[in-house]
Amino acid sequence: LHARQPIIAGNWKLNPSSIQEADGLAKGVASLLGDETCASSSAADCTEVVVFPPFPFISSVVDDLAGVGVGVGAQSIFHTAESGAYTGAVSASMVTSLGCQYVLCGHSERRTVFKDDDEAINKKVLKVIEDGMRPVLCIGETEEEYDAGLCADVCKLQLAKDLAGVSAAAMKDVVIAYEPVWAIGTGKVCPCDVAQTVHKTIRDYLAELYDRSTADAVRIQYGGSVTPESVDELMAQPDIDGCLVGGASLVAEKFARICNFV
Ligand code: G3P
Repeated sequence: LHARQPIIAGNWKLNPSSIQEADGLAKGVASLLGDETCASSSAADCTEVVVFPPFPFISSVVDDLAGVGVGVGAQSIFHTAESGAYTGAVSASMVTSLGCQYVLCGHSERRTVFKDDDEAINKKVLKVIEDGMRPVLCIGETEEEYDAGLCADVCKLQLAKDLAGVSAAAMKDVVIAYEPVWAIGTGKVCPCDVAQTVHKTIRDYLAELYDRSTADAVRIQYGGSVTPESVDELMAQPDIDGCLVGGASLVAEKFARICNFV
């Protein structure tokens, strides 16, 4: 039995390329997972499953997954305003109204490609909480930082900045995803013992920022080249409470196997 309810999430990123394919993927996940998952339950032995489709597909994917117990989240939101003259933006209330329960904040691709800095990420986290959704805050070091032994320092700094102003009470709805940048989309999964050590460091730092019982309740996912082959050993680590899956979440069979880790 896990100390915290496991949470497996699929980040579809900029995939697939059409609504037809997105519906096919969501329906595939729905038929393979059926009611084996239980997004609405808080039972510790029951895995929570969430998918993050691109914005245009969210509404249809919510319908495809209705009654299946798989939650849906948004890959980002615009944190500055709920409405107005912001061409191309998507607000927290828009995705809430579609049925999203989670929002990814601080993914490394947002940090690098879209220049989301810690200040913006912190605002997103606060906005997501304010709107009644749950942030999945992604943190992690680059390969150069890892090689320089800076992994713990980088993760702690990101946590301190990105969680500024988040209360201990609100932390129960925050999920942290540790995604070493060098393991994302590279096929280089972080060795389980290294991932466990970093997750423990993250949890201990949350205890410093908040308190021990708050830290012990926060779910920390691992992300970076997770596959059906690597998931079981990762999920056997005491401080790894789930996985944030990219590439493998685009194949329904692979994603379902990851959700059914043993
Ligand atoms: O958010 C998930 C992610 O960045 C990992 O991607 O393709 O390495 O599983 P991937």
